[in-house]
Amino acid sequence: MKISVLTIFPGMFDIIRNYGVIKKAIEKKLVEIDILNLRDYTTDKHKVTDKPSYGGENGMVMLAEPFYRFYDEYILSKNHKPYVVLPSPQGEVFNNDLAFELAKKEELVFFCGRYEGIDERVRKIVDKEVSIGDYVLTGGEIPTMVIIETLLRFLPGVIGSKTSVENDSFYNGLLDYSHYTKPQNFRGMQVPEILLSGDHERIRIFRKKDSLLKTILKRPDLFIKKELDEEEKKILVEIIQEMFNKNPDNFKESKDV
Ligand code: ADE
Repeated sequence: MKISVLTIFPGMFDIIRNYGVIKKAIEKKLVEIDILNLRDYTTDKHKVTDKPSYGGENGMVMLAEPFYRFYDEYILSKNHKPYVVLPSPQGEVFNNDLAFELAKKEELVFFCGRYEGIDERVRKIVDKEVSIGDYVLTGGEIPTMVIIETLLRFLPGVIGSKTSVENDSFYNGLLDYSHYTKPQNFRGMQVPEILLSGDHERIRIFRKKDSLLKTILKRPDLFIKKELDEEEKKILVEIIQEMFNKNPDNFKESKDV
């Protein structure tokens, strides 16, 4: 995959390019990330990238020209259009499914806006506007980093094992199960016995139960949308039965109804 980012603050991207999983993915040539300075695509000697907004309101708006120049050069050199993403509070709200879709693209371009926004005419060459949430940041750089980091996890080879991506929160509509490492007893808190048993099937079911419970308690909105398979339904019945056996009084009111 090739990712190009157009920004007036290229240095900000050192954060993702020089550390951890993304650094390794670049070294393994699983992804190429080009950070380009928008100022290099300006036409004047002062390399201006923004001008006051038309219409009398305060604030600066980013010029359309540098984005179009980059876009034209890209198409000219490669003979095809890249898939252009504009991080913006007006976009589709980002989630794992959208990250998965973006991870399938061969070539992605991110346009990072600043100030009051980008000249509306830039949207003509944008394929997808993406918001990372209902709040406003001062620029598209941090949203771009969030989107890149999330989608790269779906590229084969970026994360050590495929199952660790599949077990991640949201991948299958559930939150991730709890994780433990050494020591077995930490300040009086024990690792659940079953995880030490070596019985992989029981561990799998235990984790599934944990995922279901966590999702119900922490993210009921996700759980409501989840289509349960037969095994998950069975586990849910077990959870309710266990709760009843532990404390039948909790169910008293519903029994009386
Ligand atoms: N730029 C400013 N705020 C943003 C947001 N919430 N998502 C994406 N890009 C943005």
